[in-house]
Amino acid sequence: MKVGILTGGGDCPGLNAVIRAATRRLLDGGTRVVGVREGWLGLVDGLFVELGTREISGILPRGGTIIGTTRTNPYKLDRGVERVLAHFEDAGLTALVAIGGEDTLGVAARLHEEHGFPVVGVPKTIDNDLSATDYTFGFDTAVWIATEAIDRLHTTAESHNRVMVVEVMGRHTGWIAVMSGIAGGADVILIPEEPVSIEEACADIRRRHERGKDFSIVVVSEGYELEGATEDAEVDQFGHVRLSERGVGAMVAREIEQRTGFETRVTVLGHVQRGGTPTPHDRVLATRYGLKAADLVRDGKFGRMAALRGDDIVDVDLKGATAELKTVPPEWFAVAKAFFG
Ligand code: F6P
Repeated sequence: MKVGILTGGGDCPGLNAVIRAATRRLLDGGTRVVGVREGWLGLVDGLFVELGTREISGILPRGGTIIGTTRTNPYKLDRGVERVLAHFEDAGLTALVAIGGEDTLGVAARLHEEHGFPVVGVPKTIDNDLSATDYTFGFDTAVWIATEAIDRLHTTAESHNRVMVVEVMGRHTGWIAVMSGIAGGADVILIPEEPVSIEEACADIRRRHERGKDFSIVVVSEGYELEGATEDAEVDQFGHVRLSERGVGAMVAREIEQRTGFETRVTVLGHVQRGGTPTPHDRVLATRYGLKAADLVRDGKFGRMAALRGDDIVDVDLKGATAELKTVPPEWFAVAKAFFG
């Protein structure tokens, strides 16, 4: 057997931990392993690198991905799928471990369904927006980084009597905003799932100031819809708008300052949330996912994805795993809201 491992979409802390664990288990079982470079582009163009014990040594705590990643969608390229299948066969591969989010795994599921492609999936994204798993790896690290930033912004906000707006990632869900906001003691949290208007947010801030607190922390998710904002940002090969370009944090900060008269500043955390070493929690989760993916390959359970249910690593249908976005439920937002204003 010869198994390929691919990482696609935005990078994420813990990718290397999955690569290490899956490779280690496959090598131990006598299977050859190759890294498919640059996501699906590596199968479109035939870019491979051998993975042996030397290549995976020391990568557990390393951020990013040693095999590279892109947001390539073979279904959008001329003869893309044909080239994927041809390169897979020419390289003598018998299975693929695809590590990715909704887009990368969506391609994997479609290839499996339409061509019987022997693939298993591992759920990756800092956004935590895949419904088939309780948590994706990378999320805990992103929340940790955002929480640390909020803690630091607290002290400077307090010194200057300012409103500090922090824009975090998360795409169309507010998981990072809600979790880091709860952990960092945010006074207002704005997420795509909950239609809190800017006027309601300002009312919370004013109420807080009336109580004698003359600084506030507002966490806003990049996907939050501000009334009246226009949408002209670029889209990628999967049709996603580049949300960081909308600058919703800056718009929210401007509105708050104009409506309340309180001095306001904005911090956009951006890709800092995806960089650097994974937390211990993400290292462990990524390691368990990697071992599970290797076991699924060994058992020929293609079209499946490793997932976390409670404390257990299980496998679920790959197609169903990408069908639905996991949004923040009202119960979670209620926890955050208890501390607004
Ligand atoms: O999906 C992960 C993510 O970091 C989102 O939170 C964000 O909207 C997007 O990727 C940014 O993508 P890029 O790295 O292409 O700018």
